[in-house]
Amino acid sequence: MGAGRPLLMESPTYWGAILAAEQAGVEVIPVPSGVNGPDPADLVRAFEQTGARAFYAQPTFANPTGIQWTPDLSAEVLDVVRRFGAFLIEDDWAHDFGISADPSPLAARDDGGHVVYLRSLTKSVSPAVRVAGIVARDRPGNGSWPTLRRSPCTSARSCRRWRSTS
Ligand SMILES: Cc1ncc(COP(=O)(O)O)c(C=O)c1O
Repeated sequence: MGAGRPLLMESPTYWGAILAAEQAGVEVIPVPSGVNGPDPADLVRAFEQTGARAFYAQPTFANPTGIQWTPDLSAEVLDVVRRFGAFLIEDDWAHDFGISADPSPLAARDDGGHVVYLRSLTKSVSPAVRVAGIVARDRPGNGSWPTLRRSPCTSARSCRRWRSTS
């Protein structure tokens, strides 16, 4: 993935993610997401037709629809992503909003290094504390633990600086 390369995104989705993709020069390819989430058949078609290597989605309390994928849909999407040797970029921004629902992330089911997990604490801690995390598991056999890097950025400018030096 990178400038000029396709990125599949659930549609509708968070405007900030679309903006970030556009700023990175990535070609955004929408995959329709209805009241139950995306249709795995649409996802298969999108991977086949575009050669994309990543799918950005919010399986838990999506913005703007609020929906949460069922465990069955989560398993199907993960299977599709595995089949194409691709990545699911799981944006779990609203993880702490679960009251009666189980907000178990897809990343917890990932045994093959196919999920890049993003987690924001802004909503649950404080809007003034801009803390987010990214977790990506290495492929099995590489003998490593999941990798956790904490971004120190507090603004678009400090994020750019951090990305260019790390
Ligand atoms: C889907 C989604 N991802 C990420 C974010 C960004 O969260 P933060 O407030 O940590 O910048 C938001 C913010 O509303 C969001 O709706």
